[in-house]
Amino acid sequence: MLVYLNGDYLPLDEARVSVLDRGFLFGDGVYEVIPVYSRRPFRLHEHLVRLQASLDAIRLANPHSEAEWIERIERVSTAAEWPDQGIYLQVTRGPGPRDHAFPQVIQPTVFIMPMPLATPAPALVEQGVCAITAPDDRWLHCDVKSVSLLANVLARQRSVDAGCAETILLRDGWLTEGSTSNVFIVRDGVILAPPKSNLILPGITYDVVLELARTLELPHQLRPIAADELKRADEVWLTSTPKEVLAVTRLDGVPVGDGRPGPVFRRVHAAYQDYKRRVMHGA
Ligand code: PDD
Repeated sequence: MLVYLNGDYLPLDEARVSVLDRGFLFGDGVYEVIPVYSRRPFRLHEHLVRLQASLDAIRLANPHSEAEWIERIERVSTAAEWPDQGIYLQVTRGPGPRDHAFPQVIQPTVFIMPMPLATPAPALVEQGVCAITAPDDRWLHCDVKSVSLLANVLARQRSVDAGCAETILLRDGWLTEGSTSNVFIVRDGVILAPPKSNLILPGITYDVVLELARTLELPHQLRPIAADELKRADEVWLTSTPKEVLAVTRLDGVPVGDGRPGPVFRRVHAAYQDYKRRVMHGA
């Protein structure tokens, strides 16, 4: 397995960064996780557009053109042993004296690593997962895919401790997203999700799900969702690169709907799998 680090392709255990790297000292960096199915990157352009938005938000110049990113990602992906991968890509503000202010000279650290992509097993898709809710105590720039993930880490661990797959976050009584995923609900046959804002990550899977809802002509609406609506939803779904679309069938210990993945979920999940297959076959 090869990783890319600042111009070199090397084995993972030979990749080294400075302890003065601002990613390490301050969490001063951004990242992406890009799915690769059967060695074909999925929505790569969209991931690179979001990377640019994250870099702009933290005032870090993009060290590479899109063509350069694609070349590096493809080389790392081709060398990996697994056909399905999550390509982890991170850019930090690089090493410098420990000072909150940006260094005079910036040498960003660029790291690309393939990971096996563990999408949900069919049994999990069939039965759904449990989730818990928790207050969203993150900062107000959750649209930036920042490596400063401490609040997400703590939120995710709450669901691990509860034996569940995700922690769904509520800010001031409103649904935002999961600790590592976006959240959709279905009420009275209508798919609902919070609109993009500074309070959620603009998920690439979120966009795909909305496109599929449009194609399937399923009623859908982006609007704020109150905690109470989440708790009384007929269906709750999580979306993310590794989770794809996954039904939550128990929320805070209470069954969602009849406690099984619902009919709208089944349609969207099937459409997502079809769409993936088309991408894998080069469509
Ligand atoms: N996270 N919201 C949060 C907070 C996330 O961390 C993620 C994904 C998403 C979904 O985004 P996408 O559909 O583009 O994967 C939403 C990645 C997978 C991670 O941190 O590992």
